[in-house]
Amino acid sequence: MPVAAVGGRRFLLLTHACFVGMLLRVSGSTLARAGLGGFCITSRIAPPSRPAVAAFLPTLPTGRRRGIYSASSSSSSSSSTSPNDGISPSAPSSEYTDTSTTRRRKRTGSGGPKLSRDFVGVAKATDTGRFRAYSAEQFIKGASGLPVTSKERPYFTVLGIETSCDDTGVAVVRSDGVILGEALASQYQIHEQWGGVVPGLARDAHASVIDSMVQEALSKAGLANAGEVDAIGVTVGPGLEICLRVGSETAKGLAEKYKKPFVAVHHLEAHCLMARLGQPLVEVEEEGLREEGGKEEGGVASTLPLARFPFLALLVSGGHCMILECGDVGRYRILGGTLDDALGEAYDKAARLLKVGSGAAGGPAMELLAREGNPKAVALPVPMKGKKNLNFSYAGLKNAFRMAVTRVRESQGGGEEGGKEGGELDHQTKADLAASFQNVAIQHLEDRLERAMKESEGRGIHTLAVVGGVAANQAIRTRLQALCEKRTVARKREIEKERAWVEEMEGGGEVTAATAAATAAAAVAEELPAWELVVPPPRLCTDNGVMVAWAAIEKLRLGYSDVLEGQDVHARWPFANLEKKKEEVEAVAGGGESRP
Ligand code: KG4
Ligand code: ZN
Repeated sequence: MPVAAVGGRRFLLLTHACFVGMLLRVSGSTLARAGLGGFCITSRIAPPSRPAVAAFLPTLPTGRRRGIYSASSSSSSSSSTSPNDGISPSAPSSEYTDTSTTRRRKRTGSGGPKLSRDFVGVAKATDTGRFRAYSAEQFIKGASGLPVTSKERPYFTVLGIETSCDDTGVAVVRSDGVILGEALASQYQIHEQWGGVVPGLARDAHASVIDSMVQEALSKAGLANAGEVDAIGVTVGPGLEICLRVGSETAKGLAEKYKKPFVAVHHLEAHCLMARLGQPLVEVEEEGLREEGGKEEGGVASTLPLARFPFLALLVSGGHCMILECGDVGRYRILGGTLDDALGEAYDKAARLLKVGSGAAGGPAMELLAREGNPKAVALPVPMKGKKNLNFSYAGLKNAFRMAVTRVRESQGGGEEGGKEGGELDHQTKADLAASFQNVAIQHLEDRLERAMKESEGRGIHTLAVVGGVAANQAIRTRLQALCEKRTVARKREIEKERAWVEEMEGGGEVTAATAAATAAAAVAEELPAWELVVPPPRLCTDNGVMVAWAAIEKLRLGYSDVLEGQDVHARWPFANLEKKKEEVEAVAGGGESRP
């Protein structure tokens, strides 16, 4: 039985041999497409508008559903004909690189090597395929060329392609952040009945729509073909290897055909960089090509708050839950990550228990439901309360929630067997449960972030970006906005206290080097701006093509692109913990052409 790895996603798929043949009969998948045009600058949550998908899935044999998708780290062999082919078949390694520290750990015991539970950085370390850390050290100046700009034409355009999991996203974005055209085909209805993303089906669905998505994004941008963009970017990891390959082969083919610069994009970096979409072109300003004051009609740069490096990022999606310091493009320091479930995953599972939404639609459904509920109705434990680190854990909350649902269900007369998964619960009870879950889930975020913010302040950081699918949640935005305000006030108080102490010392004639230093520190601290929250518009938080095009733009603006030859995908691709200075990075990357 193969264990399929869902790198950077939330499911392990344990495929039973008897399903392989059955799944193979699936063919001719058709996906309706959802093309999203225009740019919407709103922080309000848009109800999930997912495309209708023609049902083409096989029916599951009775009693099999849960078994198939049970998370497992057990080893198995792979079948090249299974819907999961292309995925590394081996068992999770007992040895891995911790992305926050790059130290290697090995666990051995009486039962042999075990998968460690306390790693940080890669949400589900289930794929032992090619392993290479991502860092700016590997960037190469203009490896496959750079877009040509001029005084008359200061901007360039990039076609971005995203197929790392269950969304086929394509977009054309201009280098000043203007989204020219985008197209998105989501597969959630395909995977709905399976309770998780089925890699083989995801790959087929990507393959069936990729060309039309590219065409749709290009036409919305008013372009005839990919030969009219200046560069092509594509997500090459982390994610489902066979899905990544669909986008990557398409992008490479187009780049080769039209002789365009090519950029290999890191999915998590693309999420983080969305907080910077619309960042004025400093390089262009420096070169005196154009003053980026007001934006043209339809532009976004002047209307969105932007995260400038360095900034703190909370990356919360279906497969990831981490706090990072973003130092620059290709330079990240992971401060904390999840020890078990990602937040989006917890939302999705809670939604499943309440039978609202399914798959990645679970989060938005929970959020809507929670708006009508009492967040104090059900007592749930706040995870890792008092723990002095920046890690997350949502498995305990998920289990406590499951027990709470069962308790309520039983109290309402539904037996454990009879009323399954809260289906019989009345609307208000479900809303109360959802609100209670969300309240505690956000409390955990607040606890961790407050600590991280305190730490990062010392490094001159005062911007918090919230990115990834879960960042679309309005309640999270509101609470984290309040957290930023709270932290700003708290910091001011800390400074005032410090000053009062210094004055007291001075009054007593005890001015020492320490008090002088404290005065200086207080003065510096006072100058620091308030904490600012930056959250991309909801539809740009979930996976999409814009984020890929934008990440490629960020890299190209610095003068980097990637070679086409030998470019492969990376199911796992953790951030290296880069502490190196930019000059050192550039020295490693070598010379090359100057910035575009
Ligand atoms: O970033 P994303 O599209 O895919 C991954 O890279 O995982 O994130 C999808 C996740 C899903 O778990 C979905 O339930 C969650 O984001 N999500 C939300 C909301 N919108 C999406 N969770 C809570 N509230 C939302 N409004
Ligand atoms: Zn994502």
